[in-house]
Amino acid sequence: MSGIEPTTRSQRSGTSNSAYVWFVASVAAASGFLFGFDTAVINGALVFLKVHFGLTSFQTEIAASSLLLGCLVGAGAAGKCSDLFGRRKSLMGAALLFAVSALGSALAVSFVFFACMRGFGGLAIGLASALTPVYISEVAPPESRGRLVSLNQLAIVTGILVAYLSNWQLAGLGSTSWRWMFGVAAFPSVGFLVGLFYIPESPRWLVANNQREAGYAVLEKIAGPHGVQAEMNAIELAISEEGGGAGELFSEQMRPRLLIAIALAVLEQICGINTVLYYGALIFAQQFHGQSMKLAIGVNVVVGLVNLIFTIVAMFFIDRWGRRLLFLVATAGMAISLTVLAASFKLGPGGQYLIFGCILAYIAFFAVGLGPGVWVYIAEIFPTRVRGQATSIATMALWSACLVVTLTFLSIVDSMGLSGAFALYALLSLITFVFIWKWIPETRGKSLEQIQHYWSQR
Ligand code: GLC
Repeated sequence: MSGIEPTTRSQRSGTSNSAYVWFVASVAAASGFLFGFDTAVINGALVFLKVHFGLTSFQTEIAASSLLLGCLVGAGAAGKCSDLFGRRKSLMGAALLFAVSALGSALAVSFVFFACMRGFGGLAIGLASALTPVYISEVAPPESRGRLVSLNQLAIVTGILVAYLSNWQLAGLGSTSWRWMFGVAAFPSVGFLVGLFYIPESPRWLVANNQREAGYAVLEKIAGPHGVQAEMNAIELAISEEGGGAGELFSEQMRPRLLIAIALAVLEQICGINTVLYYGALIFAQQFHGQSMKLAIGVNVVVGLVNLIFTIVAMFFIDRWGRRLLFLVATAGMAISLTVLAASFKLGPGGQYLIFGCILAYIAFFAVGLGPGVWVYIAEIFPTRVRGQATSIATMALWSACLVVTLTFLSIVDSMGLSGAFALYALLSLITFVFIWKWIPETRGKSLEQIQHYWSQR
């Protein structure tokens, strides 16, 4: 599939104010840290919660999945919220919800109250996971957009790792330690909220919402005084050509993009990444008998570190090699690692180290491609007026797939064994490879407006 003409610096005729852009993107990406932390913190806390509230198995499942249900609803609301109030104000709403959820979960006096507070945290994650990539892609210059949007994924994996480490430290506090495990997230939530006061609204949202001067001022700060007029013209032209509204979102022209975004989101999840991130300790405890607790923590931390390191590698290559090549390398690598992993479960005790190596390879390949790339891609292929809504729909699809994978993993293992389960994810990784090969055009280096132009010409 052919690509889209890249933007050169001279075409943009401006040198972006990169320190400022990195600052703005980093503040927005702080939501990713809370996303990662809040999804991972439940792992270590669950055992204490079970004892404290005397949870049944069903209640334990609710405790673990109320967050994911909130994510679904939050992602669904993100499009409307951000179109009505702007990207930045909607992120402020998410920051408040993050803080309320952290404190509420920490102070919960009943299980139902706890589950509701986690649901609020899910709303925040849903909102932020859809809006942060959109916001960053709308402020970023084309030549570093991939890297800047990937900052969000870097923050997500950092949040996951910090949650593992913080649970490890706090577990020593005894039976009330779970309160601290959730409560500490209030600090970064408030930090995120304060940071949002120092960053501007997205210039593209401002222009699309008849605030031309304000949009121009933001663009000038980001792009520097020289490139701004040309960029403004391109944005205004592209927006004036858009219809906007629900009609546009479901129009024939938008349908292929919407389907591609939804498919990419679902495929990313059904390759099984979160089975390792959520159940990794369990898998290892089963393989390495006798030292489960210590090992489980160690494994979580190593997995988290590999995820972090290879996300940084992805950030280095995503604007050089492009999204497509990274996706293809990643999915091929995932399919191979998972196939060897599925086989190594058959080796008995001798296969333990091969299993560990394959899981790390699988995580590394995911981190170098699909992990950051899917968020980047979904946020850059839609026109400004429908970007919020379309990303919202794709993100809802992502969280639905995440919920299905999380809820079915243990039953799949029961019926097919670990070997069968990972063989299934290997097959799905292969299908994702083929899908990307056939359907995903390259977007590296193009302005959002050039990407629109490409799709409207197809
Ligand atoms: C991506 C996935 C998310 C996963 C994370 C882990 O952000 O969308 O589900 O937990 O990567 O690295």
